[in-house]
Amino acid sequence: MPLTESAPLVIAVDGPAAVGKGTLARRLAAHYGLRHLDTGLLYRATALRVLRAGGDPEVETEAAAAANAITDADLDDPALRDQIVGDAASVVGTHPAVRRALLHLQRAFAARAPGAVLDGRDIGTVVCPDARVKFYLEATTEVRAARRLCELRSRGAESIESHVLEEIIARDARDRRRSAAPMKPAADACRIDTSALGPNDVFEQAVAIVDARLSSA
Ligand code: DC
Repeated sequence: MPLTESAPLVIAVDGPAAVGKGTLARRLAAHYGLRHLDTGLLYRATALRVLRAGGDPEVETEAAAAANAITDADLDDPALRDQIVGDAASVVGTHPAVRRALLHLQRAFAARAPGAVLDGRDIGTVVCPDARVKFYLEATTEVRAARRLCELRSRGAESIESHVLEEIIARDARDRRRSAAPMKPAADACRIDTSALGPNDVFEQAVAIVDARLSSA
């Protein structure tokens, strides 16, 4: 049911790679009549700009210049979903100057009525610490690697299971250990382990939590 309140409703969905954040965030946005932002796309678009310019994602100044140059059109590029771009996105995401450049875009998106669902790594902790509802999704590394493999193969990418697993382990480690806005659950996040759950189960649990929060407000 669309919301009638005037204050924007912001829902944060955080968690590691291939945990189902995007699926849940899209469905919550459709259900509550909110806009949706996959914040990983901003980091991927930054990385893609650096890679296409022949730059090095490890170099903070190059990555920050790319982050400042992002336009809406960048977010539609099919190459954003490539695994190499995901890895490079995790690297550019370690730079404080990149995170600063992308922070105001994310906050401006969240602030517009009627509100938004943002999915990422630091939405509940840094980008929208006042989000009305915060979710942190978790699942075993093996389950996430299997899901990512299915997704890659459905897009026609030739992927080897062991490589996908290694990539997820490396990405999680980088995203958790970085000093700038590391991936972690907000203290007030509702944690859902999706390892044994299908997308509908996760969605139903999440809607029950949001509805309870809205009716107690
Ligand atoms: O969600 P994703 O796989 O598209 O994200 C790609 C990378 O971007 C991820 O490994 C780390 C970075 N990222 C981030 O640092 N902060 C976010 N809010 C979203 C993504």
